Amino acid sequence: MAYAIFAAQPGGTEVLERRDIDPPLPGSGEVLIRHTAIGVNFIDVYFRTGAYPWPVERDLVLGSEGAGVVEAVGPDVTGVSPGDRVAYTVPNGAYASHRIVPAAMLVPLPDNVQDEQAAGAMLKGLTVHYLIHHSYAVQPGDTVLVHAAAGGVGQIAGQWLRAKGVRAIGTAGGAEKCALARDNGYDAVIDYSSGDWVEEVKALTDGKGVAAVYDGVGKDTILGSVAVLRRFGSLVSFGQASGAPDQFRISHLASGSLRLTRPTLFHHTASREWLTGAAADLFAVIAEGRVKIDTGTPSPLADVAEVHAALEGRKTTGSAILIP
Ligand SMILES: NC(=O)c1ccc[n+]([C@@H]2O[C@H](COP(=O)([O-])OP(=O)(O)OC[C@H]3O[C@@H](n4cnc5c(N)ncnc54)[C@H](OP(=O)(O)O)[C@@H]3O)[C@@H](O)[C@H]2O)c1
Repeated sequence: MAYAIFAAQPGGTEVLERRDIDPPLPGSGEVLIRHTAIGVNFIDVYFRTGAYPWPVERDLVLGSEGAGVVEAVGPDVTGVSPGDRVAYTVPNGAYASHRIVPAAMLVPLPDNVQDEQAAGAMLKGLTVHYLIHHSYAVQPGDTVLVHAAAGGVGQIAGQWLRAKGVRAIGTAGGAEKCALARDNGYDAVIDYSSGDWVEEVKALTDGKGVAAVYDGVGKDTILGSVAVLRRFGSLVSFGQASGAPDQFRISHLASGSLRLTRPTLFHHTASREWLTGAAADLFAVIAEGRVKIDTGTPSPLADVAEVHAALEGRKTTGSAILIP
């Protein structure tokens, strides 16, 4: 029986409710997928809690990344056939055994990339791709800072930056997470749950500061992120795990003629050309072993509430995966 996890309204993890569904029929340009693995992301928490506006006028199925097998294709779909292994990142709808995805958002999965790796990397890994090639395009020899370095995005970022010859400094909460981040490519990792991480970053850069900060933590870090940038440095604010960074003002950029961007993955994936090129790059670094996707022990989809509680409670590392 097909099923999905619905939320009838924003709230705590108790709003996540399993319901049986009829497998949907693909319309024109659409594909029906049977999921083999589903990724969990912080954006799922933002939607569930209401931090991001409810995007539909009905009950919401969360989840924005997955991998699976094509079960059926609708009219006008070319290049995808039943039985194909595919992956995607599309906002919401993934916490389900089966779902409809626009064919234009699917990428074929190469034989040397496993379903769980893809489900843990489509949203997070493509995010790292655009962060380090577009939001602030790193140069060999740069030093940059990444917050939450032991998390899903953080682990991929550390490895990919190292592969590009960039010196990455990370932050993480607690000694275990710092050690894990160091194993994932970071040159130095600071425990920002104790001590003065701003002073530590300055000391690690001989007082000059970093070329860019990739800040997905938000409220708790944003002003420190400004303080550790070098002249003409780039502040890339791409998330708000600790809350919205609303205390930031444009005048803060005057401290070093700084640049600011607040990017979102789905503006990048809206281009089919970008999506297929970036996914090919991502699958290549995974297949070559330069970026490992730490999917830990996957959880049953039915246990998604526990996974949400762990992610919100800062108890996860790497990419959390659900298996229908
Ligand atoms: N804009 C985009 O396109 C885009 C795309 C993907 C992800 N993101 C953002 O990237 C960030 C990371 O996403 P992810 O899915 O990989 O999550 P994650 O990093 O695995 O989990 C979030 C981490 O943030 C840290 N954190 C700091 N303060 C926190 C707080 N008050 N509550 C909870 N966590 C806190 C925790 O690490 P420590 O315990 O080490 O502090 C936690 O593990 C999120 O902000 C997400 O929204 C943005």
